[in-house]
Amino acid sequence: MSEREADANRLASAALGAGDATGWFEQLYAEARQGRAVVPWERDAPQRLLVRWADARSPVGAGRPALVVGCGHGMDAEFVASLGFDTTAFDISESAVRTARERFPESSVHYRAADLLDPPAAWTGAFALVVESLTVQSLPRQLRAHASSNVGRFIAPGGTLVVVASALASSDSPDPGPPWPLTRGEVEAFAADGGEPVAIEAVPREAPKTGHVWVAEFHRPSGSRLR
Ligand SMILES: C[S@@+](CC[C@H](N)C(=O)[O-])C[C@H]1O[C@@H](n2cnc3c(N)ncnc32)[C@H](O)[C@@H]1O
Repeated sequence: MSEREADANRLASAALGAGDATGWFEQLYAEARQGRAVVPWERDAPQRLLVRWADARSPVGAGRPALVVGCGHGMDAEFVASLGFDTTAFDISESAVRTARERFPESSVHYRAADLLDPPAAWTGAFALVVESLTVQSLPRQLRAHASSNVGRFIAPGGTLVVVASALASSDSPDPGPPWPLTRGEVEAFAADGGEPVAIEAVPREAPKTGHVWVAEFHRPSGSRLR
């Protein structure tokens, strides 16, 4: 474990040991606001694989609605908004959302606290672009099918979902998490409710890290109906 991961591991072990799958995120972000903890996934730039995807695909925002899942301190949400999308970004942690708003006081992004496991009904089929980076893998495996299905259900007819997630290597022991990396089948499951895979790529991690990261794109056909 790196020094950077120590606070997250301390809080995650206590919460998960008490049967609470998500409570440690708020504790971590709240401690970070007080300068007492480090958020290990904190970045001062958007997710590089999201930027790479956008460079390759040139998505046209044009005021269409986008949703960023598990937005943390907002770097990816700000990037999506810079592409011209009317961007909503949510996180289960109120403290993360508060910090994102303070970090980008002029932002057009609608930051809000919400739970991926119980999202607002109005978000079903509502977003032309959905971005999920590293959130589903931060939830215990038994919640995975529900979490990834909910992500897929946000995609509007004609819309696109981009997923970035650590890949489970065949040599990995199954459950040292968090995080809990995804198999290819678990990535495909984002399409469980009518999305269609466009591309699923395993991209090598940047050195000195080893292993791969999934970058996947899904499309919901125009005219498809969500139950
Ligand atoms: C590993 S971090 C990734 C943050 C960011 N997406 C990134 O790529 O850097 C996982 C994020 O998901 C949030 N999260 C975890 N469970 C969630 C849930 N059930 N609903 C909404 N957000 C959640 C956490 O608070 C945290 O900000």
